[in-house]
Amino acid sequence: MKILYAASEAAPFVKTGGLADVAGSLPKALNEAGAQTRVILPLYSAIDLKWRERMTFLFHIDVQLSWRRQYCGVFCLEHDGVTYYFVDNEYYFKRDSIYGCFDDGERFGFFSRAVVEAIPRLGWTPDIIHCNDWQTALVPIYLRYEIADVYRSIKSVFTIHNIEYQGRFGPGTAEDVFALPQELCDSGIIWYENDVNLMKGAIYESDSVTTVSPSYADELQNPDFANGLHAVVESNSYKLSGILNGIDTVRYDPAKDPLLAKNYSAADLSGKSVCKAELCRELGLSDEPGTPIIACISRLVEHKGFALITEALDEIIAKGARLVIIGTGEERLENFFCDAENRYRGSVSASIMYSESRAMRIYAGSDMLLMPSRSEPCGLSQMIAMRYGTVPIVREVGGLKDTVRNLGGENANGFSFREYSASGLLGAVDFALRTYRGDPATWRLIMLSDMTADLSWSSSAVSYINIYKRLMGN
Ligand code: GLC
Repeated sequence: MKILYAASEAAPFVKTGGLADVAGSLPKALNEAGAQTRVILPLYSAIDLKWRERMTFLFHIDVQLSWRRQYCGVFCLEHDGVTYYFVDNEYYFKRDSIYGCFDDGERFGFFSRAVVEAIPRLGWTPDIIHCNDWQTALVPIYLRYEIADVYRSIKSVFTIHNIEYQGRFGPGTAEDVFALPQELCDSGIIWYENDVNLMKGAIYESDSVTTVSPSYADELQNPDFANGLHAVVESNSYKLSGILNGIDTVRYDPAKDPLLAKNYSAADLSGKSVCKAELCRELGLSDEPGTPIIACISRLVEHKGFALITEALDEIIAKGARLVIIGTGEERLENFFCDAENRYRGSVSASIMYSESRAMRIYAGSDMLLMPSRSEPCGLSQMIAMRYGTVPIVREVGGLKDTVRNLGGENANGFSFREYSASGLLGAVDFALRTYRGDPATWRLIMLSDMTADLSWSSSAVSYINIYKRLMGN
């Protein structure tokens, strides 16, 4: 079973969000489960020289899209038992940032077209192309209209990591940028409110659609969550499945993580308090034993629930907790947390930055992780936190609902609330703080159940393989 996994980012090469974690860990898990998975990515200038030095040049082709004809080099390297292909074109990928350019549609249109056209040259024809989010949404669309023999038996899987980003572009792009076949332009499949909508097109044109948790698969059929595409998802629900993400449990392991002040494990938790004391020192927090640290490790964007955190912040501090934030995003949120750090010296810390190593020290040194998302397709932070014995407090939505079980119910491993309101959040924070202070034995049980949970890809990799098998007809 040969799988070509196409994505716009993958750890450890290039990462802006959760997609990179998935693309950097699922392929390896698929290979361990018996598939042969290769990954294809754009060769951004952000990819470090240390990786480029290990790459081998394979071939180059010209990729034609509408009137544009562009050079496309293909490089490859092996990492962790997975083969990675990199699509090179400096005009498109030698930029200061990987997304957010005026011509993103054209850039990822080029990448998607290059993926399709590179296939006959790889000397390795995949049975399945697994695409992710709007940046690769054109692959299943192009594939549907290919007539050459090599493409005939290739099936496509399209994964929605977040329906907020659909790849919407003005009507003129259909022909001029994406060179979509006339037949497709004449149909309703790629149009949404007079724009080209690449995600919508992929939902129709791929052979199977997946998303990253079972609850999000349900929510995608609900107008409150689907950003206008609920009816589209619903009419394609016969081929939709929700498969929970895993995390790389080798990389995220408090017993071995080299970034921590001291390692620890479920069998010996003592290192965690060393990590907490070190974290207080690093961030300039007052080190009062017994005062819990609540962490928020997230992009600072509205749908992560920051409206609730900003509203509840004074009260969280009044309840005697300390709050640690790390992330970048909307300027007004960045300013709000910098201001909060000034108002509550020693109790609030705001790291307006993207730093993997500091984030890991926060996961390890905190007691709780707060994630009150308005919507959350899967969420990886709560799983990483659990692995580090940092108890999640989450809103019951999407993947958060599928991974965190509130204290009081069966197999509790954290705290959760349903209503999207500051009072809902404060209720859960209050319950967590009371348990932390008043019932250390229960707290310890929750930590241990988090740290020993199976958060790996093993069972989800099998679910993907079953989908691939079904598509291949065996
Ligand atoms: C997106 C989603 C997040 C998910 C990740 C990986 O970033 O917002 O919930 O965990 O993709 O699938």
